[in-house]
Amino acid sequence: MAIEEIRRPDLGGPFPEHIAIIMDGNGRWAQERGMRRVFGHREGIGSVREITTESARMGVKSLTLYAFSVENWKRPRVEVRYLMRLLRRYLVDERPTLMKNDVRLRGIGRLDDLPTEARRVLRETEELTAANPGMCLRLALSYGGRTEIADAVKRLAEDVERGELAVADIGDETLRRYLYDPETPDPDLLIRTAGEMRLSNFLLWQASYSEIYVASKCWPEFRKQELLEALSDYARRVRKYGGLVADRPSPPERVAK
Ligand code: FPP
Repeated sequence: MAIEEIRRPDLGGPFPEHIAIIMDGNGRWAQERGMRRVFGHREGIGSVREITTESARMGVKSLTLYAFSVENWKRPRVEVRYLMRLLRRYLVDERPTLMKNDVRLRGIGRLDDLPTEARRVLRETEELTAANPGMCLRLALSYGGRTEIADAVKRLAEDVERGELAVADIGDETLRRYLYDPETPDPDLLIRTAGEMRLSNFLLWQASYSEIYVASKCWPEFRKQELLEALSDYARRVRKYGGLVADRPSPPERVAK
């Protein structure tokens, strides 16, 4: 193992196995400093590197980053081109850091929408890191929660049509099997930076019971300290999944006879 030691911080409560992040506020961060929006994306790469490395060292099992949504194709052409160039460069330059930290990288989303060269370097980085035993870094690229569900339903319907699946057998877990990456458990903690309080079409199926944390800082300023603050907040949450807290027994007089 390349990481010398996993150091999980003791924050006095549960620690998330899977963290998902909506990396928002790159444009605002740059504009507030009198720079063009794309500089915010470039600076955001530093946060991607730091948060990935720190999460891997703390023993997070999966980290999912919303890097480019299906809706982001509507942005001005120069910005989309810049983001694709940044993605290509990231996928090549980051290889030594991913290897050093045992991180496995994989893309989720409508990956066929990506330009050929971006697809090629993504595939190469996935292959290079596939056997790494540490954290799985999932980059959501040309990703949309609704498109993921629509894509899943299409493939499920094909199996019904072929007679490989009976309609009567379809339940929550059946549909999950058709999502982009069914093996990864749902995110425990979903972080959004830059203060907005919405899901923006991210992991709509998987985030049903994720704990949401909104950081006021823009993504380029979201670093180790900010991650630790989110983790401390998570450590104080009580997760009930619509039920009752397991360790809080009902008062005897209310127990059904
Ligand atoms: C949102 O900021 C961010 C994005 C649309 C892209 C996120 C991309 C990066 C962090 C860099 C590329 C990442 C990788 C992994 C190569 P925004 O532009 O919507 O900010 P705003 O809300 O202030 O306009």
